[in-house]
Amino acid sequence: MLVDSFGRIHDSLRISVTDRCNIRCFYCMPNENIQFLPREELLSFEELTRFAQIALQAGIRKFRLTGGEPLVRRDLPRLVASLRQLPGVEDLALTTNGVLLAEQVEALRAAGLMRLNVSLDSLRREVFEQITRRDELDRVLAGLRRAVEVGFGQIRINAVSIRGLTEADIVPLAEFCRESGHTLRFIEYMPLDADQGWTESLVLTGAKVRARLEEAFGQLEPSARTDPSQPAVDYRFADGIGTVGFINPVSEPFCGDCNRLRITAEGQLRNCLFSTEEFDVRALLRNGASAAEILELLRRCVGAKKAGHGINDPKFIRPQRAMYQIGG
Ligand code: 5AD
Ligand code: SF4
Repeated sequence: MLVDSFGRIHDSLRISVTDRCNIRCFYCMPNENIQFLPREELLSFEELTRFAQIALQAGIRKFRLTGGEPLVRRDLPRLVASLRQLPGVEDLALTTNGVLLAEQVEALRAAGLMRLNVSLDSLRREVFEQITRRDELDRVLAGLRRAVEVGFGQIRINAVSIRGLTEADIVPLAEFCRESGHTLRFIEYMPLDADQGWTESLVLTGAKVRARLEEAFGQLEPSARTDPSQPAVDYRFADGIGTVGFINPVSEPFCGDCNRLRITAEGQLRNCLFSTEEFDVRALLRNGASAAEILELLRRCVGAKKAGHGINDPKFIRPQRAMYQIGG
């Protein structure tokens, strides 16, 4: 098993399949002059599958595909099918912005994708466009409808909260999710934007979002916590319809329960979103390394994990990479 020096067991791997994206959320990407990775730098599906197989030997059980936007990677369902057939996979999920979902969700489902997270910060067209710098709200909503039609249940909506911008979206997003049966998660804005515009004053805390929901819907009741490594704290609405969760990495760091590793699209293994150190899996994969050597790299990466991200520490150093270059 992959246990770090603080006793945290790592059983979850987030795989970024591309740094490209079809929208430009300001909290993640720059608007222009983006240097995307050349194709040959990306891990191939065969390389990713081999790495996943080795990670399974080390105790990884859950996989999540991320980006950039994973659906812009050509033939993604082929990767999903290839991962899904590996023995020991307990969870295989995807985080998407939803723009290409309507076209691809049926193939993803057929390939064996188990769960879906869709990012949606605002139901107001102008605000959606202000955040993403693209006018794609309708396609996201159509993608969500299609996902339900092809049989995805318990779809999770991830909404990043920005102070001064998304306060008026809190209640409509909750209503939308309660009506459509999606689970809603509010996420605090983290210092991972390429433009380096993050300041603490732009963080709309989970506590504030929750207070707004309680004004509108009455007291929220904490749900039983089934998986302590889940970063979200979930609540039920007073009338029993729907749940809402809060991922509060800034105001309430949950690093103590972290079980996650990440691999970037070009095959660099990271033990934290905020780590400043990477482990070069691609070099090993491309130099004919044995499974034992790759396992050793996994162990070294986990062994080097720090206790926490330290966002609130005055000595905090932002990672070189922005969110789209790491994978959410
Ligand atoms: N802070 C918080 N969440 C972010 N995401 C992207 N950038 C940030 C940030 N700076 C979210 C996206 C998506 C997931 C991949 O990460 O909205 O839900
Ligand atoms: Fe694209 Fe996701 Fe970054 Fe938004 S947060 S720009 S959807 S990669």
